[in-house]
Amino acid sequence: MDFFDVVTTQRAMRRLKTDAIPDDVLKKIMDTAICAPSGGNRQNWSFVVVRDQARRARLGELYREAWGELMKVPYYAGATKEPADSPAGKMLASARHLGEHLGEAPVIVLACVTLDPGVRVSLTTGASIYPAVQNIMLAARALGIGSCLTTIHRFRDAQVKELLGIPADVETAALIPLGYPLGRFGRPPRRSVGEVAFADRWGRALGSL
Ligand SMILES: Cc1cc2nc3c(=O)[nH]c(=O)nc-3n(C[C@H](O)[C@H](O)[C@H](O)COP(=O)(O)O)c2cc1C
Repeated sequence: MDFFDVVTTQRAMRRLKTDAIPDDVLKKIMDTAICAPSGGNRQNWSFVVVRDQARRARLGELYREAWGELMKVPYYAGATKEPADSPAGKMLASARHLGEHLGEAPVIVLACVTLDPGVRVSLTTGASIYPAVQNIMLAARALGIGSCLTTIHRFRDAQVKELLGIPADVETAALIPLGYPLGRFGRPPRRSVGEVAFADRWGRALGSL
């Protein structure tokens, strides 16, 4: 696929088939993860690639519980009042579907980052793992595989870490279900470049871009 077609049609794909992803395809995807940048090239990342059926099912249960926790947060609970055919309503329906079916995705990747002793989690911690996460999702898209960056598993982080044997000094940054999509890829709805990018200083219109 053309690079720009990949990047502009990669979006949250939460309705996934249960069909297995071949090992060579998975290997190709994971090879892009380890090409991502990290602070000081520390490569302090780890990826637990979960294919085992029982572990995926348990992750699915924990994710469903996490979804229940999320729905107690006023902002998200409020979204349930949006019309079903509005962008927010559609996103909620899609996210709810994943809440109920995550464990059925054939592969679930836990992207993790190891903290230095005494260092607290900060924006820069995430900056050393999310580029790798994006690489995974872009590579998946290029290969016709859907994915979604999720983080609500952190409502059940202790249980997730115990299930997968993740050490205490390692943070789980993202849980990414992978699978061939039931729906179609497409350009996601976004604010325009003109709204969010400025020329030379904050607030100055970029003009022709
Ligand atoms: C930091 C972050 C956390 C996210 N967490 C979740 C999540 O826990 N569950 C979920 O279904 N989607 C999650 N998403 C996906 C977003 O909802 C999605 O990227 C956004 O709605 C745009 O979707 P689109 O690309 O299909 O337009 C997360 C995305 C980001 C960047």
